[in-house]
Amino acid sequence: MITRKNGVLWKDMHGLPIHAHGGWILAHNGYYYWYGEDRRENFYVSCYRSRDLSDWEFCNHILTTESEMEPYRVRTKMQLKRDDGGKINLERPKVLYNEKTGKFVLWAHFENGADYREAAVAIASCRTPDGDFTYHGHFNPYGYMSRDCTLFKDDDGTAYFISASRDNADMHMYRLSDDYMNVDALIHRLWQGEYREAPAVTKIHGRYYMLSSFCTGWAPNQGKYAYADSMEGKWSSLMEIGDETTYMSQPAFILQKDGRILYFGDRWGGNGEKYFESGYVVYPLIEKDGRLSMQFTEEISL
Ligand code: DGJ
Repeated sequence: MITRKNGVLWKDMHGLPIHAHGGWILAHNGYYYWYGEDRRENFYVSCYRSRDLSDWEFCNHILTTESEMEPYRVRTKMQLKRDDGGKINLERPKVLYNEKTGKFVLWAHFENGADYREAAVAIASCRTPDGDFTYHGHFNPYGYMSRDCTLFKDDDGTAYFISASRDNADMHMYRLSDDYMNVDALIHRLWQGEYREAPAVTKIHGRYYMLSSFCTGWAPNQGKYAYADSMEGKWSSLMEIGDETTYMSQPAFILQKDGRILYFGDRWGGNGEKYFESGYVVYPLIEKDGRLSMQFTEEISL
């Protein structure tokens, strides 16, 4: 167990800052793999691993400007750099393991590096959780805009991609194809006109919960959540969780471990201008009678 201060840039086991913002944790074969945005140098996504969420070991810069590119059956645009050689933007990367293909599939939010008008989905894959991922390009699912996003894998292996669409006005939910390499159906267009970002989904006692933030750039705002009895069923309306700044954070993902429901969020540095100083928070979530609450803590033991 290690106790970490919430809201600061955490360090790995060698004392170096962990750059895994807007991230995701995947449990696989005895390790937790933490993926996230790494905007330094020519990196896009970095991966760290831990046996127990306390000590983190850097594994690899799994996606960079130099990653291998490979087209596949879905028509996508292959672009890992801007025309002038600058970097594009890959935000909020999420990774699932697909049992049928044996591949780790990464979904992220793609932007051209100049503005947020592209609003597309980027896909990459790899045979190992922390290897060099192969980039398969970006596309707009069914022609829709797709910005802040998350993945969710249900107990039967069915996976969903959830992303902010129509200039963030609606939250779209797509069921993925069996190999997790494409969308198969647009299931929901949730909370139209309510402008939600940063979705994060978890399942507690058979019920599904989705947290999200409002849309205020990098500045934190009031978190809200909703629930449903099945991913494809009816979702409730949004209810507040945490305080008016979600205790100075924006959702990244939710992880359950040893009976604890852990909300991981980003505390963006100086509302974005100090992006590289952005820190992490973990706040326990409490489920009671089908309702969720968030427990503010200055420190968290992991
Ligand atoms: C809020 C999003 O949640 C972040 O991932 C990032 O896209 C910022 N907006 C950019 O302003």
